[in-house]
Amino acid sequence: AASIALPGFPPTTFPPPAFRCFRPGTPRAGSGSMDSTTMLPPGVAVIADFDGTLTRYWIAGRRGQTSHGLLQQGNAEYDAKRQALYEYYHPLEISPTIPIEEKTKLMEEWWEKSHGLLIEGGLTYDAIKKSVSEATIALRDGVVELFELLEELGVPVLVFSAGLADIIEEVFRQKLHRSFKNIKVVSNRMVFDEEGCLVSFKGKTIHVLNKNEHALDMATPIHDKFGYPNGYNPDSVLMKQRTNVLLLGDHVGDLGMSDGLSYENRIAVGFLNNNTEMSFKSYLDAFDIVYLNDATMRGVVELVSQLC
Ligand code: TMP
Repeated sequence: AASIALPGFPPTTFPPPAFRCFRPGTPRAGSGSMDSTTMLPPGVAVIADFDGTLTRYWIAGRRGQTSHGLLQQGNAEYDAKRQALYEYYHPLEISPTIPIEEKTKLMEEWWEKSHGLLIEGGLTYDAIKKSVSEATIALRDGVVELFELLEELGVPVLVFSAGLADIIEEVFRQKLHRSFKNIKVVSNRMVFDEEGCLVSFKGKTIHVLNKNEHALDMATPIHDKFGYPNGYNPDSVLMKQRTNVLLLGDHVGDLGMSDGLSYENRIAVGFLNNNTEMSFKSYLDAFDIVYLNDATMRGVVELVSQLC
Protein backbone atom coordinates (compact mmCIF):
# COMPACT_ATOMS: atom_id res chain seq x y z
CA ALA A 1 0.00 0.00 0.00
CA ALA A 2 1.23 3.50 -0.85
CA SER A 3 2.17 5.72 2.04
CA ILE A 4 1.28 9.36 2.21
CA ALA A 5 2.14 12.09 4.70
CA LEU A 6 -0.07 15.16 4.79
CA PRO A 7 1.07 18.34 6.52
CA GLY A 8 0.06 18.21 10.16
CA PHE A 9 -1.22 14.64 9.94
CA PRO A 10 0.53 11.37 10.67
CA PRO A 11 1.53 9.29 7.64
CA THR A 12 -1.24 7.01 6.57
CA THR A 13 -1.57 4.20 4.05
CA PHE A 14 -3.99 3.52 1.23
CA PRO A 15 -6.70 2.53 1.62
CA PRO A 16 -6.75 4.35 4.96
CA PRO A 17 -9.88 4.92 6.98
CA ALA A 18 -11.81 7.96 5.81
CA PHE A 19 -11.11 10.99 7.95
CA ARG A 20 -11.84 14.66 7.86
CA CYS A 21 -9.73 17.75 8.40
CA PHE A 22 -10.97 21.12 9.57
CA ARG A 23 -9.72 24.51 8.63
CA PRO A 24 -8.88 26.35 11.85
CA GLY A 25 -11.90 28.19 13.26
CA THR A 26 -14.51 25.99 11.58
CA PRO A 27 -17.43 24.94 13.80
CA ARG A 28 -17.19 21.25 14.60
CA ALA A 29 -20.39 19.30 15.05
CA GLY A 30 -20.42 17.44 18.33
CA SER A 31 -17.21 19.00 19.58
CA GLY A 32 -19.03 21.04 22.17
CA SER A 33 -16.94 24.03 21.12
CA MET A 34 -19.27 25.61 18.59
CA ASP A 35 -19.31 29.34 18.55
CA SER A 36 -22.91 30.51 18.18
CA THR A 37 -21.82 33.38 15.92
CA THR A 38 -20.44 30.99 13.32
CA MET A 39 -23.21 28.38 13.49
CA LEU A 40 -25.74 28.14 10.65
CA PRO A 41 -29.11 29.12 12.18
CA PRO A 42 -32.51 28.26 10.61
CA GLY A 43 -32.94 29.63 7.07
CA VAL A 44 -30.36 27.25 5.69
CA ALA A 45 -30.04 26.18 2.07
CA VAL A 46 -27.85 23.36 0.83
CA ILE A 47 -26.00 23.57 -2.49
CA ALA A 48 -24.42 20.30 -3.51
CA ASP A 49 -22.35 19.23 -6.46
CA PHE A 50 -23.28 15.80 -7.85
CA ASP A 51 -20.37 13.79 -9.32
CA GLY A 52 -17.78 12.84 -6.73
CA THR A 53 -19.69 14.71 -4.02
CA LEU A 54 -23.09 13.06 -3.72
CA THR A 55 -21.66 10.03 -5.52
CA ARG A 56 -18.80 7.76 -4.48
CA TYR A 57 -15.46 8.10 -6.23
CA TRP A 58 -14.59 4.40 -5.84
CA ILE A 59 -17.03 1.51 -6.07
CA ALA A 60 -15.69 -1.99 -5.31
CA GLY A 61 -12.19 -1.01 -6.45
CA ARG A 62 -13.41 0.66 -9.65
CA ARG A 63 -13.77 4.35 -10.38
CA GLY A 64 -17.40 5.38 -9.98
CA GLN A 65 -18.82 6.79 -13.21
CA THR A 66 -19.97 10.39 -13.63
CA SER A 67 -23.32 11.40 -15.12
CA HIS A 68 -21.42 11.97 -18.37
CA GLY A 69 -19.20 8.94 -18.06
CA LEU A 70 -21.96 6.38 -17.53
CA LEU A 71 -23.71 7.26 -20.74
CA GLN A 72 -23.70 4.58 -23.44
CA GLN A 73 -25.29 6.10 -26.52
CA GLY A 74 -25.89 2.73 -28.13
CA ASN A 75 -23.46 3.93 -30.78
CA ALA A 76 -19.99 2.49 -30.16
CA GLU A 77 -18.22 4.97 -32.40
CA TYR A 78 -19.58 7.95 -30.48
CA ASP A 79 -19.03 6.35 -27.07
CA ALA A 80 -15.37 5.84 -28.06
CA LYS A 81 -15.08 9.45 -29.24
CA ARG A 82 -16.41 10.78 -25.91
CA GLN A 83 -14.09 8.42 -24.01
CA ALA A 84 -11.12 9.77 -25.98
CA LEU A 85 -12.16 13.30 -25.00
CA TYR A 86 -12.33 12.20 -21.35
CA GLU A 87 -8.83 10.73 -21.50
CA TYR A 88 -7.47 13.96 -22.94
CA TYR A 89 -9.37 16.54 -20.86
CA HIS A 90 -9.88 14.91 -17.45
CA PRO A 91 -6.17 15.10 -16.47
CA LEU A 92 -6.29 18.78 -17.44
CA GLU A 93 -9.46 19.26 -15.34
CA ILE A 94 -7.78 17.95 -12.18
CA SER A 95 -4.34 19.46 -12.79
CA PRO A 96 -3.49 21.90 -10.00
CA THR A 97 -0.88 23.67 -12.17
CA ILE A 98 -2.90 24.97 -15.16
CA PRO A 99 -3.87 28.65 -14.73
CA ILE A 100 -7.61 29.15 -14.27
CA GLU A 101 -8.22 31.17 -17.49
CA GLU A 102 -6.49 28.53 -19.57
CA LYS A 103 -8.35 25.72 -17.79
CA THR A 104 -11.70 27.47 -18.28
CA LYS A 105 -11.11 27.57 -22.06
CA LEU A 106 -10.18 23.89 -22.06
CA MET A 107 -13.31 22.97 -20.10
CA GLU A 108 -15.53 25.00 -22.48
CA GLU A 109 -13.95 23.12 -25.37
CA TRP A 110 -14.55 19.73 -23.70
CA TRP A 111 -18.21 20.36 -22.87
CA GLU A 112 -18.95 21.77 -26.33
CA LYS A 113 -17.40 18.78 -28.09
CA SER A 114 -19.02 16.27 -25.74
CA HIS A 115 -22.54 17.74 -26.03
CA GLY A 116 -22.07 17.95 -29.80
CA LEU A 117 -21.22 14.23 -29.96
CA LEU A 118 -24.30 13.32 -27.90
CA ILE A 119 -26.54 15.09 -30.41
CA GLU A 120 -24.67 13.85 -33.48
CA GLY A 121 -24.63 10.28 -32.15
CA GLY A 122 -28.44 10.23 -31.78
CA LEU A 123 -28.83 9.82 -28.00
CA THR A 124 -32.30 8.70 -26.92
CA TYR A 125 -34.02 8.91 -23.53
CA ASP A 126 -34.31 5.11 -23.51
CA ALA A 127 -30.50 4.88 -23.77
CA ILE A 128 -30.25 7.11 -20.67
CA LYS A 129 -32.51 4.82 -18.63
CA LYS A 130 -30.58 1.74 -19.74
CA SER A 131 -27.19 3.38 -19.12
CA VAL A 132 -28.15 4.37 -15.58
CA SER A 133 -29.41 0.89 -14.76
CA GLU A 134 -26.10 -0.63 -15.93
CA ALA A 135 -23.78 2.07 -14.52
CA THR A 136 -21.08 1.86 -11.89
CA ILE A 137 -22.53 4.68 -9.86
CA ALA A 138 -23.55 4.87 -6.21
CA LEU A 139 -24.62 7.64 -3.89
CA ARG A 140 -22.26 8.05 -0.94
CA ASP A 141 -23.44 6.21 2.14
CA GLY A 142 -25.46 8.68 4.18
CA VAL A 143 -26.81 10.66 1.21
CA VAL A 144 -30.30 9.19 1.62
CA GLU A 145 -30.25 10.02 5.34
CA LEU A 146 -29.06 13.53 4.50
CA PHE A 147 -31.89 14.04 1.97
CA GLU A 148 -34.47 12.70 4.44
CA LEU A 149 -33.20 14.93 7.22
CA LEU A 150 -33.17 18.01 4.99
CA GLU A 151 -36.70 17.23 3.79
CA GLU A 152 -37.87 16.86 7.38
CA LEU A 153 -36.25 20.20 8.25
CA GLY A 154 -37.72 21.91 5.17
CA VAL A 155 -34.27 22.82 3.87
CA PRO A 156 -34.11 23.43 0.08
CA VAL A 157 -31.38 21.53 -1.73
CA LEU A 158 -29.92 22.65 -5.03
CA VAL A 159 -28.00 19.88 -6.78
CA PHE A 160 -25.74 21.90 -8.99
CA SER A 161 -23.80 19.99 -11.59
CA ALA A 162 -21.74 20.47 -14.69
CA GLY A 163 -22.96 16.99 -15.65
CA LEU A 164 -26.31 16.19 -17.25
CA ALA A 165 -29.59 17.01 -15.47
CA ASP A 166 -31.62 14.30 -17.21
CA ILE A 167 -29.13 11.65 -16.10
CA ILE A 168 -28.86 12.90 -12.51
CA GLU A 169 -32.65 12.83 -12.22
CA GLU A 170 -32.71 9.30 -13.65
CA VAL A 171 -30.03 8.25 -11.10
CA PHE A 172 -32.19 9.68 -8.30
CA ARG A 173 -35.26 7.87 -9.70
CA GLN A 174 -33.43 4.54 -9.86
CA LYS A 175 -31.39 4.81 -6.63
CA LEU A 176 -33.74 6.67 -4.29
CA HIS A 177 -37.01 5.06 -5.42
CA ARG A 178 -38.84 8.22 -4.34
CA SER A 179 -38.78 11.92 -5.08
CA PHE A 180 -37.91 14.79 -2.74
CA LYS A 181 -39.88 18.00 -3.28
CA ASN A 182 -37.12 20.07 -1.64
CA ILE A 183 -34.46 18.92 -4.15
CA LYS A 184 -33.92 20.71 -7.47
CA VAL A 185 -31.36 19.74 -10.07
CA VAL A 186 -29.61 22.54 -11.92
CA SER A 187 -27.44 21.13 -14.65
CA ASN A 188 -27.18 20.83 -18.43
CA ARG A 189 -30.68 19.92 -19.55
CA MET A 190 -31.45 18.08 -22.76
CA VAL A 191 -34.23 18.75 -25.25
CA PHE A 192 -35.71 15.67 -26.93
CA ASP A 193 -37.91 15.53 -30.02
CA GLU A 194 -41.17 13.56 -30.24
CA GLU A 195 -39.29 10.34 -31.00
CA GLY A 196 -37.25 10.76 -27.79
CA CYS A 197 -34.07 11.77 -29.68
CA LEU A 198 -31.76 14.44 -28.25
CA VAL A 199 -31.91 17.56 -30.42
CA SER A 200 -30.29 20.29 -28.31
CA PHE A 201 -29.39 21.52 -24.84
CA LYS A 202 -31.29 24.22 -22.95
CA GLY A 203 -29.58 27.48 -22.04
CA LYS A 204 -25.91 28.20 -21.51
CA THR A 205 -23.57 25.29 -20.90
CA ILE A 206 -22.51 24.71 -17.30
CA HIS A 207 -18.98 23.32 -16.96
CA VAL A 208 -16.88 22.76 -13.85
CA LEU A 209 -15.45 26.28 -13.79
CA ASN A 210 -18.45 28.50 -14.57
CA LYS A 211 -20.93 27.34 -11.96
CA ASN A 212 -20.72 30.77 -10.31
CA GLU A 213 -22.40 32.32 -13.36
CA HIS A 214 -25.45 30.11 -12.97
CA ALA A 215 -26.11 30.10 -9.25
CA LEU A 216 -29.14 32.33 -9.22
CA ASP A 217 -30.75 32.46 -12.62
CA MET A 218 -31.61 28.78 -12.66
CA ALA A 219 -32.58 28.06 -9.09
CA THR A 220 -36.30 27.36 -9.42
CA PRO A 221 -37.74 25.30 -12.25
CA ILE A 222 -40.96 26.45 -13.83
CA HIS A 223 -43.26 23.86 -15.37
CA ASP A 224 -45.25 23.68 -18.57
CA LYS A 225 -48.99 22.92 -18.64
CA PHE A 226 -48.25 19.19 -18.53
CA GLY A 227 -46.18 19.58 -15.36
CA TYR A 228 -42.80 19.01 -17.01
CA PRO A 229 -39.82 21.20 -16.12
CA ASN A 230 -39.67 23.87 -18.78
CA GLY A 231 -36.86 26.27 -17.93
CA TYR A 232 -36.08 28.24 -14.84
CA ASN A 233 -37.61 31.26 -13.21
CA PRO A 234 -35.12 34.14 -13.29
CA ASP A 235 -36.83 35.75 -10.30
CA SER A 236 -36.29 32.66 -8.22
CA VAL A 237 -36.66 33.31 -4.54
CA LEU A 238 -36.04 29.76 -3.43
CA MET A 239 -32.37 30.18 -2.68
CA LYS A 240 -32.21 33.94 -2.41
CA GLN A 241 -34.25 33.98 0.79
CA ARG A 242 -31.75 31.70 2.49
CA THR A 243 -28.85 33.53 4.02
CA ASN A 244 -27.10 30.48 5.51
CA VAL A 245 -25.53 28.11 3.07
CA LEU A 246 -24.08 24.66 3.47
CA LEU A 247 -22.05 23.98 0.34
CA LEU A 248 -20.84 20.50 -0.65
CA GLY A 249 -18.32 20.04 -3.45
CA ASP A 250 -15.35 18.06 -4.68
CA HIS A 251 -13.68 20.76 -6.73
CA VAL A 252 -12.43 24.19 -5.70
CA GLY A 253 -14.53 25.58 -8.59
CA ASP A 254 -17.63 24.28 -6.74
CA LEU A 255 -17.23 27.13 -4.27
CA GLY A 256 -18.58 29.41 -7.02
CA MET A 257 -21.96 27.64 -6.71
CA SER A 258 -22.93 30.06 -3.93
CA ASP A 259 -21.74 33.22 -5.72
CA GLY A 260 -24.57 35.66 -6.18
CA LEU A 261 -26.40 34.46 -3.08
CA SER A 262 -26.37 37.10 -0.39
CA TYR A 263 -25.56 34.62 2.33
CA GLU A 264 -24.36 35.70 5.74
CA ASN A 265 -22.80 32.40 6.76
CA ARG A 266 -21.43 29.61 4.63
CA ILE A 267 -19.89 26.33 5.63
CA ALA A 268 -18.10 24.71 2.70
CA VAL A 269 -17.41 20.99 2.82
CA GLY A 270 -14.97 19.56 0.28
CA PHE A 271 -14.48 15.93 -0.72
CA LEU A 272 -10.91 15.55 -1.96
CA ASN A 273 -11.01 12.50 -4.19
CA ASN A 274 -7.75 12.52 -6.12
CA ASN A 275 -4.31 14.17 -6.34
CA THR A 276 -4.54 14.18 -2.54
CA GLU A 277 -0.97 15.12 -1.79
CA MET A 278 -0.79 17.92 -4.34
CA SER A 279 -4.25 19.38 -3.73
CA PHE A 280 -4.57 18.95 0.03
CA LYS A 281 -3.33 22.38 0.99
CA SER A 282 -5.45 24.24 -1.56
CA TYR A 283 -8.55 22.31 -0.43
CA LEU A 284 -7.87 23.07 3.19
CA ASP A 285 -7.44 26.76 2.32
CA ALA A 286 -10.63 26.82 0.24
CA PHE A 287 -13.06 24.62 2.20
CA ASP A 288 -13.94 24.73 5.90
CA ILE A 289 -14.02 20.96 6.21
CA VAL A 290 -12.19 18.54 3.94
CA TYR A 291 -13.05 14.85 3.70
CA LEU A 292 -10.48 12.44 2.31
CA ASN A 293 -10.57 8.84 1.17
CA ASP A 294 -14.10 8.71 -0.20
CA ALA A 295 -15.69 9.39 3.18
CA THR A 296 -19.38 8.84 3.73
CA MET A 297 -21.91 11.67 4.03
CA ARG A 298 -22.56 10.76 7.68
CA GLY A 299 -20.37 13.59 9.04
CA VAL A 300 -22.48 16.05 7.05
CA VAL A 301 -25.66 14.46 8.43
CA GLU A 302 -24.21 14.93 11.91
CA LEU A 303 -23.28 18.53 11.10
CA VAL A 304 -26.79 19.34 9.80
CA SER A 305 -28.46 17.78 12.81
CA GLN A 306 -26.24 19.89 15.08
CA LEU A 307 -26.80 23.08 13.13
CA CYS A 308 -30.50 23.07 12.23
P1 TMP B 1 -19.70 17.96 -11.58
O1 TMP B 1 -20.85 16.99 -11.56
O2 TMP B 1 -18.71 17.73 -10.47
O3 TMP B 1 -20.16 19.36 -11.67
O4 TMP B 1 -18.80 17.71 -12.87
C1 TMP B 1 -19.08 16.97 -13.97
C2 TMP B 1 -17.98 15.99 -14.26
O5 TMP B 1 -18.23 15.39 -15.55
C3 TMP B 1 -16.59 16.57 -14.37
O6 TMP B 1 -15.77 16.04 -13.35
C4 TMP B 1 -16.05 16.08 -15.71
C5 TMP B 1 -17.01 15.02 -16.13
N1 TMP B 1 -17.20 14.86 -17.60
C6 TMP B 1 -17.14 13.57 -18.15
O7 TMP B 1 -16.89 12.59 -17.43
N2 TMP B 1 -17.36 13.42 -19.49
C7 TMP B 1 -17.64 14.48 -20.32
O8 TMP B 1 -17.86 14.29 -21.53
C8 TMP B 1 -17.68 15.79 -19.73
C9 TMP B 1 -17.97 16.97 -20.60
C10 TMP B 1 -17.48 15.93 -18.37
